[in-house]
Amino acid sequence: MKWWQKEVVYQIYPKSFYDTNHDGIGDIRGIIEKLDYLHDLGVTMIWICPVYASPQDDNGYDISDYCDVDPMYGTMEDLDELIQKGKEKGIKLIMDLVINHTSDEHEWFKKALSNDPKYKDYYIFKQGKNGDPPTNWRSIFGGSVWEKVGDNEFYLHTFSKKQPDLNYENPELRQEIYNMINFWLDKGIAGFRVDAINHIKKDQRYQDGEVDGKDGLSTCFPFLRNVEGLDVYLDMIKKNTFDLHDCMTVSETAGADYARIGELIGEHGAFSMMFDFTYTNIDIDNEDYFRKRNWSSEELKQMIFTSQEEIQKVGWSGPFMENHDQPRSINKLIKDINYHNAIGAKALGTLYFFLRGTPFIYQGQEIGMLNFNRKSIDEFDDLQARSQYNRSLEEGFTVEQAIQFLNERSRDNARVPMAWNDQLYAGFSDTQPWLANEDHYQQINVEKQIHDPLSVLNYYKQMIDLRKNHEELIEGLFKPFETDNDIIGYTRADKYLVLVNMSSTVNKVDTQQYKTVVLNNYNTFDGDMLPYQAVLLTK
Ligand code: NOJ
Repeated sequence: MKWWQKEVVYQIYPKSFYDTNHDGIGDIRGIIEKLDYLHDLGVTMIWICPVYASPQDDNGYDISDYCDVDPMYGTMEDLDELIQKGKEKGIKLIMDLVINHTSDEHEWFKKALSNDPKYKDYYIFKQGKNGDPPTNWRSIFGGSVWEKVGDNEFYLHTFSKKQPDLNYENPELRQEIYNMINFWLDKGIAGFRVDAINHIKKDQRYQDGEVDGKDGLSTCFPFLRNVEGLDVYLDMIKKNTFDLHDCMTVSETAGADYARIGELIGEHGAFSMMFDFTYTNIDIDNEDYFRKRNWSSEELKQMIFTSQEEIQKVGWSGPFMENHDQPRSINKLIKDINYHNAIGAKALGTLYFFLRGTPFIYQGQEIGMLNFNRKSIDEFDDLQARSQYNRSLEEGFTVEQAIQFLNERSRDNARVPMAWNDQLYAGFSDTQPWLANEDHYQQINVEKQIHDPLSVLNYYKQMIDLRKNHEELIEGLFKPFETDNDIIGYTRADKYLVLVNMSSTVNKVDTQQYKTVVLNNYNTFDGDMLPYQAVLLTK
């Protein structure tokens, strides 16, 4: 077994984790102060979202200097201390690697704009069509992917216009990226979560797509994501960086095609593991908040099964329920609001935590944090929230509907400050936080749960402990367990059975030879699964 298969990873959104310097913004010292909390929880690795120098247009995913820490978060010395203190407590650190694009305030891009030919070719500049953009592709944050910089000259940005895409066709650029990756690995971090990495290869034909929205634009995905030839660049990155270190890497690869995941994971893949997003967006189409989908637990079941079976054939995955780009999972996946509580939180935890792969827990998930309920667009921070709001209105929805979509789907839901206690600002800071707290922190917070044996937090501790102490739960074969109702079930190593009732009605199940209850989110289990009941059984 590889060392990284045994890890349990905790994702930190530094801006909202813990503020130690009284500015309402979380910082690296805040993470250092909470290492004991993480150690008690039992996680063995943290992934921190970007803390590099950045103008913060997309909260740090727009980097202006890859080898520097943003003063908002602290200093390089703080980061070194975090790496060191983490190691002492058995907690490794992985960083976010954002190499599809930089900030438009990166030195390279500034030089590109001043027409320095070397740096101009680090990015993707194209001539337009008589002053109009070269293609009709829509950027992921809305509007054209092209930003005009001359009479008929444009640069490409898959995300915001402050995130120009890098040109991987250029070998000099590739070498700069390798150097930077090696700089961080040499520092002693354990690896990376690799951002939007399936976007680095572009369709070189630069042809229009089919218009699919009232903005007159086409989705950019067929042209800028999972494009044929992506594997060539992934392979070069791997050989020049990851292979030189014993590191762990996880790819952020939305829309990955199972037929091609050998490019990402397994013997010939570039990464240790991949995030599979197939069921992350089960509730919406085309990643647009306003294209809501009616989904069933049968569909979720089949998506989980397919994901696990396809990935198992090739390599390793990084199962997750939440991250900083998603709303809270309870709101998304528990249809009956009566179970937007500890029962629901534990059910979802059980559902994904024992899947085959290295599990990731997003801050606040371990206490069952919920979405907020905001009333006006002014209360949202995220640039995607604003663009989705405008697009909802453009598509003909009312203001109330557009806000409702954001309350259900906006990335701000997961980005509010971590709820440490029931005091002002949830114990995150003693100053008004950069983003207002969620509405429930007086009931749902760490302090309240830490000494309650039945809390969601203690349930997560138990899950982590079980996984650590039973190898079958780590590398054991995954097999779907057939059920003909809303129960989702799977076995590991033919030794453990996980069952989760994804509905608020009682459902029956024949547990076959699996009779001993190891974990249960209710007090009892007699074969009838209660609403959102979850159990882990063994023979
Ligand atoms: C994925 C990141 O998780 C998200 O937060 C970011 O906006 C985009 N990639 C662009 O870097």
